[in-house]
Amino acid sequence: MTTPPRDAAVDLAPVPAGSVLAIRGGRPLRGRVDVKGAKNLATKAMVAALLGETTSILRDVPDISDVAVVRSLLEVHGVNVSEGDEPGSMVFDPSEVESAHFEEIDAHAGASRIPILFCGPLLHRLGQAFIPDLGGCRIGDRPIDFHLDALRKFGAVVEKQPNGIRLSAPNGLKGANIHLPYPSVGATEQVLLTAVRAEGTTELRNAAIEPEIMDLIALLQKMGAIISYEPNRVIFIEGVDELRGYDHRCIFDRNEAASWACAALATDGEIFVGGAKQQEMLTFLNVFRKAGGWFDVQEDGILFRRDTALKPVTVETDVHPGFMTDWQQPLIVALTQAKGRSIVHETVYENRFGFTDALVKMGADIEVHPHGLQNGPRRVARRELEQAAVITGPTPLRAADIVVPDLRGGYSHVIAALTAEGESQVSGVDILSRGYEKFLEKLRALGADFDVVR
Ligand code: EPU
Repeated sequence: MTTPPRDAAVDLAPVPAGSVLAIRGGRPLRGRVDVKGAKNLATKAMVAALLGETTSILRDVPDISDVAVVRSLLEVHGVNVSEGDEPGSMVFDPSEVESAHFEEIDAHAGASRIPILFCGPLLHRLGQAFIPDLGGCRIGDRPIDFHLDALRKFGAVVEKQPNGIRLSAPNGLKGANIHLPYPSVGATEQVLLTAVRAEGTTELRNAAIEPEIMDLIALLQKMGAIISYEPNRVIFIEGVDELRGYDHRCIFDRNEAASWACAALATDGEIFVGGAKQQEMLTFLNVFRKAGGWFDVQEDGILFRRDTALKPVTVETDVHPGFMTDWQQPLIVALTQAKGRSIVHETVYENRFGFTDALVKMGADIEVHPHGLQNGPRRVARRELEQAAVITGPTPLRAADIVVPDLRGGYSHVIAALTAEGESQVSGVDILSRGYEKFLEKLRALGADFDVVR
């Protein structure tokens, strides 16, 4: 099997704010896209640079707006951020970290949830931190109670204010025993970023063990942290007095890789995803194969296409090593073309099927059961979250006017429009710049037929 060559770049990045995509569907996507570092590692790694006494270098940083938000937040806190010695690398000099004004933090935080992870590092550096009310995708309540409970256990004083949360650590931060009610990715990162420089040992139980978290642990170890990982989601962290800077290459973005794989499946195309690796995508690849997909793992990436006619599957989103919640949206677009009934159970977020309304408008047969299915086959990790989507196919998709709701839902809308007959108008697409680098450029390189209408 031959690998398509790298395509010439078209200057379409980033997706212009307020623009609408006029997408003419029905053409398979074919070609090569390259994925860079994971959004969900790079942004945390940037925060970790605050903990070092010396300069850090991060490599393969994706050019996405979430990275720009964290960069601005670091800069308002006195970190000097510059380009590194290779494309996509960033250098962070934290030697002059200082408190920032509320207005500055608020202005730069944008729609991101990353500011919450500044708490531990700022408490260590400055003894105080201010976190504005958080944004992020509209996919459920997305509370921060696990974060605040953990910070209190380290000895932080948390004060709610009208525009956010003020934290202080009058007696410094001390190691703690923390048992998370759920293996939350963000709360696990919060504990890691706080415990590495807290006095004494921290024992974290029910931790998230996503590959991006393991990569963050590796990066912190390079900085001088002492972190051990035990079976059954237990992590021990021995606090140290001082950490140095790191030189680290981000783990690849498995969410972006899975998105393009589903785009190949849905449009009946063939996409080589440069930089994708098998190990971190095992669960996805199994489902992809069961749904009628074919893949070939190569030295520098994975080639994806259809194998047979698409087949229905039953999946349940879960924490790692389960099927990621961020994979279900593009998969559902492909499942609208499978013969029979597929079921997707969402157990991570409260509200992550909103994007299916637009697919129904385009002709898909999708029923969302907000309280789960009475007799459906399932293993729901969190009893209170029992939403299910039942997708019955195949249904031809027709063009429609759609407004993108969030990052992953928005990606699935674009793929649905590319699968549909006729011209769709998709608005709000700039949200895709939060997590997909050079999105329009990549679509163009894959042969998508669209115009950007302002
Ligand atoms: N939760 C709480 N309380 C908390 C924290 C989380 O109840 O204090 C709940 C959430 O409401 C949610 C569940 O726990 O129902 C899981 O949330 P988690 O903390 O694991 O998610 P996160 O850290 O906010 C990250 C990614 C998400 C990804 C999830 C799950 C980043 C910036 N975001 O979110 O990525 O879906 O982990 O893997 O790392 C995306 O990339 O589009 C995205 C949303």
